[in-house]
Amino acid sequence: MIILKLGGSVITRKEAENPTLNHENLERIAREISQSNYQKLIVVHGAGSFGHPFALKYGIGDEIGNNQDLENKMMGFSITQQAVKELNSRVCQCLRKYNILSVSIQPSSFILTKNKRIISANLNLIRKYLDLGFVPVLYGDVVLDSEDAIKMAVLSGDQIVKYLAENLKPKRVILGTDVDGIFNKDPKKYADAQLLDVVSSLDHMENGDTDTADVTGGMGGKLRELLELADIGVESEIINVNHSNIIKKALNGENIMGTLIKKKIRR
Ligand code: ADP
Ligand code: IPE
Repeated sequence: MIILKLGGSVITRKEAENPTLNHENLERIAREISQSNYQKLIVVHGAGSFGHPFALKYGIGDEIGNNQDLENKMMGFSITQQAVKELNSRVCQCLRKYNILSVSIQPSSFILTKNKRIISANLNLIRKYLDLGFVPVLYGDVVLDSEDAIKMAVLSGDQIVKYLAENLKPKRVILGTDVDGIFNKDPKKYADAQLLDVVSSLDHMENGDTDTADVTGGMGGKLRELLELADIGVESEIINVNHSNIIKKALNGENIMGTLIKKKIRR
């Protein structure tokens, strides 16, 4: 079984102020998945411009002030939930167009967090879908949080990947984004940034990415999830799915460029 994350930076125009799909990328990715020889597959996708602008505008996950603030955040929750659901619908539709038996699984309908970390999610249904040959498709969403001060949280696709991987023990975990992997600093800002083949600690990212991070923490947030996963023995790979055929090669187990996140060997 393989877990594949499609970053919001790839399937949407992430810098757009309004929800904007990246049609070409989505079509190409669906075609490449359909041409690969995966056995069991879970797809998790990010929210990009369908989620981040709303989550930011309404401060989902921030502390709740008075009743009016709560109501405003609930309105934002409702709007964000619908927008990411619409993106998911487009993704599932496109996958099906290429004969991939996608089935949509809405995180906000079965996942609960406490202080923004998943504390409960029943994965039995996902196991059943997988056993039958479906491709479950989950996504970054807004969810209820049992911490009274926030009540609602933004759940990244990356955290979902981590949770699924630690519980379902896939053979491989692949995260597709719009850069070649993890660099020592942001490759979009520094021409001399160097790609790291293997990463086993946050220290590898010299400057962090706090100034470019989205509401779920950007590349730093992604790496944090994957390092926790590596710690329990599940390795993952970050690849640039803007390169054509890379998803197909990755799913087929061919050697490709990217960053491997693995456990630090302690001496
Ligand atoms: P996605 O939407 O695909 O999940 P993110 O937007 O969260 O991905 O993170 C990818 C972005 O992180 C890249 O476009 C890149 O500009 C930025 N970034 C910041 N620091 C780094 C780094 N050290 N290495 C790689 N990318 C970085
Ligand atoms: C974010 O999910 C979810 C919302 C903003 C509602 P991700 O953090 O996985 O999205 P991308 O991949 O960074 O766009």
